[in-house]
Amino acid sequence: KDVKLWGGRFADGPSAALERLSASVHFDFRLAPYDIAGSRAHARVLHRAGLLTAEELDRMIGGLDTLEADVAAGDFRGTIADEDVHTALERGLLERLGPDLGGKLRAGRSRNDQVATLFRMYLRDHARIIGGLVADLQDALVGLAEAHPDTAMPGRTHLQHAQPVLFAHHVLAHVQALSRDAERLRQWDERTAVSPYGSGALAGSSLGLDPEAVARDLGFEHGSTGNSIDGTASRDFAAEFAFVTAMIGVNLSRIAEEVILWNTKEFSFVTLHDAFSTGSSIMPQKKNPDIAELARGKSGRLIGNLTGLMATLKALPLAYNRDLQEDKEPVFDSCDQLEVLLPAFTGMMATLTVHRERMEELAPAGFSLATDIAEWLVRQGVPFRVAHEVAGECVKVCEAEGIELHQLTDEQFAKISAHLTPEVRGVLDVPGALASRDGRGGTAPSAVAVQLAEVKADLAVQ
Ligand code: ARG
Repeated sequence: KDVKLWGGRFADGPSAALERLSASVHFDFRLAPYDIAGSRAHARVLHRAGLLTAEELDRMIGGLDTLEADVAAGDFRGTIADEDVHTALERGLLERLGPDLGGKLRAGRSRNDQVATLFRMYLRDHARIIGGLVADLQDALVGLAEAHPDTAMPGRTHLQHAQPVLFAHHVLAHVQALSRDAERLRQWDERTAVSPYGSGALAGSSLGLDPEAVARDLGFEHGSTGNSIDGTASRDFAAEFAFVTAMIGVNLSRIAEEVILWNTKEFSFVTLHDAFSTGSSIMPQKKNPDIAELARGKSGRLIGNLTGLMATLKALPLAYNRDLQEDKEPVFDSCDQLEVLLPAFTGMMATLTVHRERMEELAPAGFSLATDIAEWLVRQGVPFRVAHEVAGECVKVCEAEGIELHQLTDEQFAKISAHLTPEVRGVLDVPGALASRDGRGGTAPSAVAVQLAEVKADLAVQ
């Protein structure tokens, strides 16, 4: 007969159709090491409450150790009939210790408080793994910025040429966004360091157990949850984790989109390393930015995981409902996707070849120094409203003649405005335009150097 945790009041076993529907063991078995750690902590508080003798506790811990080793070696697996990881491991313990001792561990706990606790433990570990992978990407981007300290590129708004910026400045903008993601992971972890173990099914336990001791044992720095109903029913920690991972996906996707554009023949700003690009089965000349495209694609999937989970949680009455079994797959998937994506993405960015001449050739194109003419006029005492108008007139003449701003003659300048003396040429070069934006956060090499130092100092403590 199947070992069911709830067989007593049932005359019949579950139908095969129910069993197939109900099973989660094929995706929640990854919680097994955490489940066993929880069981050890629980055995200790049962002992302290006088519900296990010292000798029983020893044998219990021994049984859990063996079970843990068997799980790690792949010698113990859950089956569909086990329903979930908790049931599977209870069967494993019963097989190893016999029903008399093995059957004592379930006192004072429920799968509801177990799963809420183990899910947190799993995600906390993976928050740390993902945080490390994000830091690796930040290091690669910082390396890229450091390798090109004074390379100019066309800065864009609306994807149109706007003003020249330093390539390093642009790359560090992405690093800043990733720093906030890393900070979100750390702050999430801080909030999630609270253990629901001991909440039981929803109401707590009558057995005099010590949830704070279990929390300490399992590494929850902020102790146990203050409300057993909330402890078993809340999943905002999972939704928030899904958000932070989706945000990382979205930030990667924004970098990815740029790499895809930069890598086109038309831009020719970068070349991808062979080891981080793919070919075509039919077109021999092709070299495709698949890593960037997969990043863009997977960001949609990560957003889906977040919205799917939110939809599951919406309107759920307190406390535990079986709907909550749907909480794990999307969030596990978000971990899995980022953990395969990030190393490839970092490799792609770390090995990018940057074509400086091409970027610098295009940096002043599209009249991107028109703002510099306007700001030069302002420095001569011309009101900005007039200066904007005059610089716009320069662009109009250039467009009509098919020339660039620096190709306007002194006569043409003078004709547009008496304020446009030949000295205006001084701001019509890219290095001058960059160097003049030297306030905090600006694109001048000196300002970007300050930013780079700050970012590196942050990364060193992150
Ligand atoms: N497998 C369930 C989950 O993942 C936990 C089991 C709770 N089942 C129950 N009938 N209370 O949410």
